[in-house]
Amino acid sequence: MMLIYNDPESLSRAAADLFVKQAREAVDRRGRFTVALSGGNTPLRTYQLLARPPWRDQAPWPHIHFFWSDERCVDMDDDRSNAGMARRTLLRHVPVEPARVHPIQCDQDPEAGALAYNEILQIYLPLAAPTLDLVFLGLGNNGHTASLFPYNPALEENVLWAADVFVIEEQMHRVTLTPVLINASRTVVFLVYGREKAQILKTIVEGPSDAQRLPAQLIRPRNGRLIWMVDRSAAAALGKRKIMATGNQFREHP
Ligand code: 6PG
Repeated sequence: MMLIYNDPESLSRAAADLFVKQAREAVDRRGRFTVALSGGNTPLRTYQLLARPPWRDQAPWPHIHFFWSDERCVDMDDDRSNAGMARRTLLRHVPVEPARVHPIQCDQDPEAGALAYNEILQIYLPLAAPTLDLVFLGLGNNGHTASLFPYNPALEENVLWAADVFVIEEQMHRVTLTPVLINASRTVVFLVYGREKAQILKTIVEGPSDAQRLPAQLIRPRNGRLIWMVDRSAAAALGKRKIMATGNQFREHP
């Protein structure tokens, strides 16, 4: 489903609403909520909003397990750390249960960090779908998502839930959730805004299909929901058929 918002602020508010709604439903039904947060700049505002009223007062923080969709293998105090970003913008400001915050730790040894994260995920999540309740993802201009980069062997992983990757352009190791886990999740939400994402969004959604070159195309939850939350600028190149009326309230496109 494609949800289109007027601007990044409306999108971020809607993403915060979605987080709170899903968390409350999950806690009511199953006693806990499991979410994988993404990095990058796009979700930053959503995390800041979640740390403020009214969202801060509505989410069942102590019952939420936080995971990450990927991580750069740097110290958590490094500006590039996704867990560090979430901690600064959100986790530090709300009453989370520290034992339920599960950052990816890979700064010492990426390969061992990925294996350790795989074990952590399997301790806390059901082994069969549905696994995570919610996964937030972003979209890179080259079609990557999480740290699933074009032509990387992690795209072919069909058993493990977390894998280490070396990103040549950055000369950096990262650890990422694999499509095995992401596609077994209950709800997967891509957050995408800005004109510079318009062309890649169109290609990912409308094709042609080439998942090795465009890893975001690998994300197709088997029994879960896939939701694209995008702003009008990012949606600008989508075929007319895809565009619905916009406004501060979202419009749904099947
Ligand atoms: C990261 C994410 C990455 C990100 C996209 C979009 O940690 O950077 O793994 O997949 O979501 O690159 O990044 P922006 O939100 O900064 O555009």
